[in-house]
Amino acid sequence: MARTKTSFRCTACGRQELKWLGQCQGCGEWNTLVEVAPAAASARPGARPGARPAARPVRALEVQTLREARFTTGLGELDRVLGGGLVPGSSVLLGGDPGIGKSTLMLQVCAGMARPEAPVLYATGEESLEQVRARAVRLGLPLDGLQLLAETDVEALAGALQAGSFRAVVFDSVQTLRCPDIPSAPGSVGQVRESAARLAEVARARGQPIFLIGQVTKEGTLAGPRMLEHMVDTVLYFEADPGRSLRVVRAHKNRFGPVSEIGVFEMTGQGLVVVDNPSRAFLQDRPARACGSAVLAMLRGTRPLLVEVQALVSSSVYAQPRRTAWGCDPNRVALLAAVLERRAGLQLAGCDLFLNVAGGLELDEPAADLAICAAILSSQADRPIHPRLAVFGEVGLAGEVRAVPAAEARAQEALRLGYARVLLPAGCLEQLHAPRGLEPTGIASLDRLAELALEDR
Ligand SMILES: Nc1ncnc2c1ncn2[C@@H]1O[C@H](COP(=O)(O)OP(=O)(O)OP(=O)(O)O)[C@@H](O)[C@H]1O
Ligand SMILES: [Mg+2]
Repeated sequence: MARTKTSFRCTACGRQELKWLGQCQGCGEWNTLVEVAPAAASARPGARPGARPAARPVRALEVQTLREARFTTGLGELDRVLGGGLVPGSSVLLGGDPGIGKSTLMLQVCAGMARPEAPVLYATGEESLEQVRARAVRLGLPLDGLQLLAETDVEALAGALQAGSFRAVVFDSVQTLRCPDIPSAPGSVGQVRESAARLAEVARARGQPIFLIGQVTKEGTLAGPRMLEHMVDTVLYFEADPGRSLRVVRAHKNRFGPVSEIGVFEMTGQGLVVVDNPSRAFLQDRPARACGSAVLAMLRGTRPLLVEVQALVSSSVYAQPRRTAWGCDPNRVALLAAVLERRAGLQLAGCDLFLNVAGGLELDEPAADLAICAAILSSQADRPIHPRLAVFGEVGLAGEVRAVPAAEARAQEALRLGYARVLLPAGCLEQLHAPRGLEPTGIASLDRLAELALEDR
């Protein structure tokens, strides 16, 4: 007899249970059991052999190559993050804090892609059709080719996808979707997982790209499950620097492109506007001649960017001084502080150290080391860094400054923004075909950092 009750499957070992348990009885992991629909449960591995026809593999040479190339979303910055445009049949999850502008971005994308002969569907479970239309009118978006649907039932939505021929489909948001055969409430782990899986399957089969909008929890993970990230092809995060209008879209996972690219937007009354000169935007609030502020020439994907790295060194009231960092790895900061103490004679014992990357960007490349060191040094010495100086380079445990890739591109970006003086690893000097006006200075070891980077008193 067919099973009609919902069951639960461990995401770690695949064991099936008939009731929810905090700990899996199979592998002992905690909180790994998720609800699965009856149909999915009966298709578990180990089901009676012979009940279904055996699957037939095909030769890779016989598989048809995808005919249609990627297409543009109408927003160049988003295309860049997607790896050069949207892939037909792909599923993209867009996560971000409440109110950051996810619906705005997706509505602009819909309007950018929609053609009267190839409409785009925007399905909403959070707002009414009137609210969505009002937003589109406020943003001045063309309405032809844009179809709206207020629906949360996944079966009905899958039916709409199959009945229509859409260039792309947006679901706002994945937390409101519900599969009628799963009894739990919308937004629960089982509902979110199953809804996303079913819609992604239909999209793949029909070659229609879909966007799923998702909320981010306070812990910073996409509400509902991390496992949702495995089900979709691309996961994008939409982030903001608190209190500022800059928005950054970055790929967390991408099956069709790199994850290193970022797209920078500004939220305005007319919606999200592409920021043509992100370096200028990231540096616009930088105070002149401030101690503890260094300009880093970083590389994000293929794009060089100038960002401000700020450090504050202050005497500590704690027995164990603090090492706190926003926008970069605190362990890396602690390591660089130790190297500065040993190799550059800096006195940091008994001092709290705070580090911040302005603009809400994350530094994830070793080339940021030298700028972090320069900012700490400047704060500790209470001397500003030379005006119009940009810095980059990796720092080793012996205090040596190591070469990093793309020195030329970084230096060019610095010069473009008026940072004519560039402090870079000595090993990079040879590869640098210094453009006119650039004043590069090579540094081989941290013990010369104060002399080369700080202004004289
Ligand atoms: N009339 C307006 N003028 C300027 N900016 C506006 C206006 N209305 C909304 N915004 C901006 O749009 C943001 C909300 O955008 P949007 O609704 O797209 O966000 P969201 O991420 O989809 O939010 P939610 O998580 O609630 O769905 C607001 O925080 C505000 O900055
Ligand atoms: Mg929204």
